[in-house]
Amino acid sequence: MIQKILIANWKMNPSSLAQAKALVTEIKKASKVFGESLVVIAPPTIYLGEVQKIIAKSKLLLGAQNVSAEKEGAQTGETSAGMLKDAKVEYIIIGHSERRAKGESDEVINRKVIAVTDLAMTAVLCIGERIRDDEGQYFEFLHGQIKSGLKKLSPKMTKSLVIAYEPIWAIGKDAKRAVRKEELHEMTIFIRKALLELYGKSLAYKIPVIYGGSVDLNNVGDFLHGGMVDGFLIGRASLDAKVFTEMVAITKSSGSPKIVKV
Ligand code: 13P
Repeated sequence: MIQKILIANWKMNPSSLAQAKALVTEIKKASKVFGESLVVIAPPTIYLGEVQKIIAKSKLLLGAQNVSAEKEGAQTGETSAGMLKDAKVEYIIIGHSERRAKGESDEVINRKVIAVTDLAMTAVLCIGERIRDDEGQYFEFLHGQIKSGLKKLSPKMTKSLVIAYEPIWAIGKDAKRAVRKEELHEMTIFIRKALLELYGKSLAYKIPVIYGGSVDLNNVGDFLHGGMVDGFLIGRASLDAKVFTEMVAITKSSGSPKIVKV
């Protein structure tokens, strides 16, 4: 069974350190009853140190929203994997569509995945199509993102990997709708098949496949069962401590996801 993972991607929120500390303190209070689920808080880089101090000795884990592909040097504004490791970060979101939109290439994303897993942190590789065309070309597009994102990632390193499926059209407040659970189920199978081609059955089944895009209290249970995912990457809903902790509770009480046969 794959342990469920919920990652709070705060993006560039909240707008002050005081609010960030209040938010994580409230989530921490509820975390005693989180059970077996892995709950990761990924605040803006500038808040990592303060958030870490608050979650130290709790069940919450620290995540980062981005990392440099380089180890050190003339990289203005960047943060290396080693620096994030020093800050006690364990999960790093890589290739989020909001970063790809700023010009991050598959090649750079792949180097980031390698940089992170080399230091035994977990790489959360984001993939997702901009649109769903009637011919189904988005399948090929996603296949390409998986293959290039994981280039040279050895089978052994897959224990430090999470795949996050985030269709761009379902992300954010302008999204018309979240994915449908049937669509998500189909995609979970498709992603597992791609992982199976790369790493074989026994390893592919162990890589968590999570979903992100307009996940909220109303759809989280449906996605878990109907979509067969191993967890969630949550944007807006993770900025409300009550809503977020309720989502963790729903995930916890939903039992283990069934094995997806491919
Ligand atoms: P929302 O949950 O706000 O749609 O954002 C999803 C996302 O991009 C998480 O990484």
